[in-house]
Amino acid sequence: MGGVLRDMLRILVLHGPNLNLLGNREESIYGTATLAMIDASLMKLGGELGVDLVIRQSNLEGELVTWVQEARRGYHGIIINPAAYTHTSIAIRDALAAVDLPTVEVHLSNIYRREEFRRHSYISGVAVAQVTGFGPTGYLLALRGLCEQLCVSGSTGSSGGGASASRGNTGT
Ligand code: DQA
Repeated sequence: MGGVLRDMLRILVLHGPNLNLLGNREESIYGTATLAMIDASLMKLGGELGVDLVIRQSNLEGELVTWVQEARRGYHGIIINPAAYTHTSIAIRDALAAVDLPTVEVHLSNIYRREEFRRHSYISGVAVAQVTGFGPTGYLLALRGLCEQLCVSGSTGSSGGGASASRGNTGT
């Protein structure tokens, strides 16, 4: 079981500022994968898991806030790499708290091994999990983990599926 009900899962993936430059942005830190490559691998895994993914990137804090707010309608969870806004944005944190959807925070680099100012995240306190330091694989781990979490929280406990429309907070 799980196929039909899992098909109902809808997850929003948000990429923050400067992630559009991946591939030739500080390659020693962020690697050579482009955002298009990361998105393609997410879409592939989403297809395998039967999850409907919508992926967006913005360099603008307000736009990210608006997209988080809009996720109240029709989404079951959020995966977000807020990039530099991780360390500055109370607005994105508040939006995530307001929509109250299960959220996974992703970072390509290990933010705890870098500069002091990157070691604080405004987002982690409203996220169910944080994946940091695995490069592009982190997004895939986040998708698997969030999918599992949503299925378990909305079902009788079968990790193989069985999630219902009531899982998570769809905000509808
Ligand atoms: C980042 C880490 C942030 O500190 C940085 O500002 C980014 C990317 C990461 O994915 O490792 O832009 O979120």
